[in-house]
Amino acid sequence: MKTQKENIEFFKKHNYLLIKGFLPRNLADFLYHYGKTYVLAADVMVQTKFPRYNEELHGAFGDQQVPNTFKRYGDPVMDALLLYAQKGMEENSGMKLQPTYSYWRLYKNGDILRRHKDRPSCEISTTLCLGYDISNMKDKKYNWPMFVEETGSYKGLPGKPVHMEPGDMIIYKGALIDHWREPFEGRNHCQVFLHYNNLEGPYGEITKYDTRPFVALPGDFVNIEKRKKVKAIHDDIIDGRLKKEDINPEDYGHRKYGPNGEEYKDVLNGSDSKDKKS
Ligand SMILES: [Fe+2]
Repeated sequence: MKTQKENIEFFKKHNYLLIKGFLPRNLADFLYHYGKTYVLAADVMVQTKFPRYNEELHGAFGDQQVPNTFKRYGDPVMDALLLYAQKGMEENSGMKLQPTYSYWRLYKNGDILRRHKDRPSCEISTTLCLGYDISNMKDKKYNWPMFVEETGSYKGLPGKPVHMEPGDMIIYKGALIDHWREPFEGRNHCQVFLHYNNLEGPYGEITKYDTRPFVALPGDFVNIEKRKKVKAIHDDIIDGRLKKEDINPEDYGHRKYGPNGEEYKDVLNGSDSKDKKS
């Protein structure tokens, strides 16, 4: 087990950090059970065409990044975890943090997570392993890694795999470094993403609770005007990074996703899909 000082130094140098046993195993097990139970119940609501089922409120089967796989934004249980984990996150990252939002998925066999960087509210991100089922596999030691490319380059440099057991967590600068997963071979795998911003960074308090009045509220509560300001700051940052690598920001094209276009809505709701070169 590394000391917090060593963790802070590693995170500063590498832009990511693996923390083993961030959550006690029994809490991770419970949240994995919660995720699986939740998805079975959501499936009943979808199959029976329950009229009060609402994707914003209850979660949905699929997003841009991983089609047909259940995801939920701002789940009260996971947003509570976002606040609960803040202290540990600050101690291990060495930063004063602004909680933004949580998002969880129950991945299924064959799922991939394409290579991407995240949107501004994910400046300091975590991905926390809650549990997985690999009972279909001959290789009982199979463990599905997330890959990270720690320099933050836009040139598609090779990354490295990071493995997690239930309760383990990777902290990473989600809006800076590429991260991705190759096809999943097991039955299911539950991850929760807890997103924060650096309070002393370029966004300050504007991204508090992802511009919602409080946590545990659905995306309907997002403040679009604040989001536009955040996007403008983010675009300037990306332009600077692209220029450093001699990539013309106009060729890269992220600014064509303006405040009134459909693509911009995608940027609001998910990862910044234009922030990738792979
Ligand atoms: Fe991401």
